Amino acid sequence: MKQETKKTEVKQEKITISVIKADIGGYVGHSSSHPEILEKARALLAKAQKEKLIVDFCVTSCGDDLELIMSHRKGCDAKQIHGLAWEVFEECTALAKKLKLYGAGQDLLSDSFSGNVKGMGPGVAEMEFVERKSEPFIVFMGDKCAPGAWNFPLFKIFADPFNTIGLIIDPSMHDGFKFEVHDIKSDKNFILATPEEMYDLLVLIGSAENYIIKAVYTKKGEIAAVSSTQKLYLIAGRYVGKDDPVLIVRSQAGLPAIGEILEPFAFPHLVTGWMRGSHYGPLMPTSQKQANPSRFDGPPRVIAYGFQLANGKLIGPRDMFDDPSFDYARYEANRIANYMRAHGPFEPHRLPLPEMEYTTLPEVLKKLQERIK
Ligand code: F6R
Ligand code: MG
Ligand code: MG
Repeated sequence: MKQETKKTEVKQEKITISVIKADIGGYVGHSSSHPEILEKARALLAKAQKEKLIVDFCVTSCGDDLELIMSHRKGCDAKQIHGLAWEVFEECTALAKKLKLYGAGQDLLSDSFSGNVKGMGPGVAEMEFVERKSEPFIVFMGDKCAPGAWNFPLFKIFADPFNTIGLIIDPSMHDGFKFEVHDIKSDKNFILATPEEMYDLLVLIGSAENYIIKAVYTKKGEIAAVSSTQKLYLIAGRYVGKDDPVLIVRSQAGLPAIGEILEPFAFPHLVTGWMRGSHYGPLMPTSQKQANPSRFDGPPRVIAYGFQLANGKLIGPRDMFDDPSFDYARYEANRIANYMRAHGPFEPHRLPLPEMEYTTLPEVLKKLQERIK
């Protein structure tokens, strides 16, 4: 009897998935990551695993971003886990500097760790839950795009019956979901439920530069998805914490099926980012191997790593876009890339003035001012 109680307790123990990422240096330029950096990160996380700080880990890269996927029992926002990620980024930055990689340490905006990496440059998506009988989930990682990139697919996955047939025919999904939306330039957050508040939701998230989906919950309050979206922090005179986002989505048995989660990416929708973070371009789904944005520093990329959790162990990854059924999306993305590129420096390829990461406008206006007769 006693043993049985113990068994139940172990079963209820929560697991946390933390995906923490940073661009600590590009190889070559901003196009990819150096293999030695990944090896170094793996060695450091293997040490942390041996010391039982984390249960398991997977290190990968999407373009110039170093991605740390970790499972552990410390909960979200745990100082030890964020501290570990910060240490990995610092050590990898030191190596990146030695190799003179491009923009070494570009996402580490502070010299010292303050307890939580949020607002210090790196991106973070974390969720804590009780592991189900079988727990499939996908980690999406983007490069050369802003966090608003997930609004469109998250809406399709959890609220659009033309994408997710489960919303119509699976009794356990028929109630719909709840979306947590952040107004990223202020402190305001909203919870909106679908299908009943679908139009209200769309008027917000259709503006992906202002309103971003942070998380999705079942109507019972179970976490289903979480993104690395965060309020933008004004550091060093500019807003940070907005580039190259990650997203975790749990799947199956009352949540969208793996195929329903991947389906929106068959349409390479336009996102902000690409060259100099100042252009609209199609989000191209590729295998991890092909996530090395090179043409005009792009086009923007998304990769998807699938895992099964087994008592906290990450069984995987499976490279989900390494599949010919996404060939057409890649072809379409290239076609759209051609079309957008043909606009050169004109909107709507180039972003509107307030959204551009680089600008010469103040200097140009000043120079012209001096010429007014
Ligand atoms: C986009 C990106 C690149 C750079 C571009 C210029 O997110 O990182 O497109 O903006 O290569 O880089 P710098 O200014 O470092 O020469
Ligand atoms: Mg870079
Ligand atoms: Mg990047």
